Amino acid sequence: MIKIEAIVREEKLEDIKEALAKIEVNGVTVSQVMGCGKQKGYQELVRGMEVSITMLPKIKFEIIVSCEEWEQKTIKAIQEAAFTGNPGDGKIFSYDLRNVMRVRTKEIGTAAIN
Ligand SMILES: Nc1ncnc2c1ncn2[C@@H]1O[C@H](COP(=O)(O)OP(=O)(O)OP(=O)(O)O)[C@@H](O)[C@H]1O
Ligand SMILES: [Mg+2]
Repeated sequence: MIKIEAIVREEKLEDIKEALAKIEVNGVTVSQVMGCGKQKGYQELVRGMEVSITMLPKIKFEIIVSCEEWEQKTIKAIQEAAFTGNPGDGKIFSYDLRNVMRVRTKEIGTAAIN
């Protein structure tokens, strides 16, 4: 099992939800987060000095999938929906995941996510 974490532009929330629904990825966690990438937020002049406004609001998606095939499909769908071509489009991370349990049935592993 693989965990995919995508940190993207707030205004892309609906587009990404739609793109995931289209490929039938149904289990998703979304949160509002703050962060910065290599531009460290953005630069602003304050009394003649350049200062960094370091943390910008972003949306984080967390998705657990069963295998590499779904990892690739999910990452492709998110990348396409999140893309504008400008700095700040976001990042997508993936990790190996140890285990999952569905509380209602006590199913574990891939049985708990499908
Ligand atoms: N190395 C990192 N570790 C953890 N979170 C990161 C990292 N890089 C980016 N993020 C998260 O992703 C969000 C979006 O990053 P961003 O798209 O600005 O990345 P970038 O590397 O600066 O790429 P770009 O040049 O396209 O802006 C950040 O606000 C932050 O929350
Ligand atoms: Mg950036």
